[in-house]
Amino acid sequence: MRPAVITAVAFAFGLVAITFAQDAGPDKTKAIMHAKLEHSQALLEGLATEDFARLAKHASTLSLLSLETDWNVIQTAEYRRLSEDFRRNTTKLTDAAKDKNLDGATLAYVGVTLKCVECHKYVRSVQVGVTP
Ligand code: HEC
Repeated sequence: MRPAVITAVAFAFGLVAITFAQDAGPDKTKAIMHAKLEHSQALLEGLATEDFARLAKHASTLSLLSLETDWNVIQTAEYRRLSEDFRRNTTKLTDAAKDKNLDGATLAYVGVTLKCVECHKYVRSVQVGVTP
């Protein structure tokens, strides 16, 4: 293929990618927000059955989710701080699970849950009708 053709094809793919990325926005945010709930339910199950591998897997997935662009629906310093707090707790939970420390993991789980509630309280205060 000639370079001009390759450039044109790459450009076309770029446009398609941008279009999809824009479409994905709100749906992806919704998917992430719901995934949080599923992962935190899996954490409770992991605690109840002392399944450290399950705990580590879902806690670290929660940490990663909180780094996604679509997580950051609110662009304020406070939202960033709340996200960092949340991640600190999910990391603590991951570490406790890796150390097979059930009490530590349970405590970190409570910390994670507190951060869910704290951030949603904040979101409700700045965006009426966004969070249940
Ligand atoms: C740093 C902030 C923050 C933290 C921490 C957080 N959330 Fe959220 N959550 C949000 C925001 C913002 C929304 C609303 C998104 C929107 O629809 O614009 C939301 C929405 C949700 C929704 C509703 C989705 C819908 O479709 O209505 C659920 C369920 C949810 N979060 C679960 C959780 C759980 C469980 C945790 C803790 C494990 C958690 N969240 C932690 C910010 C946060």
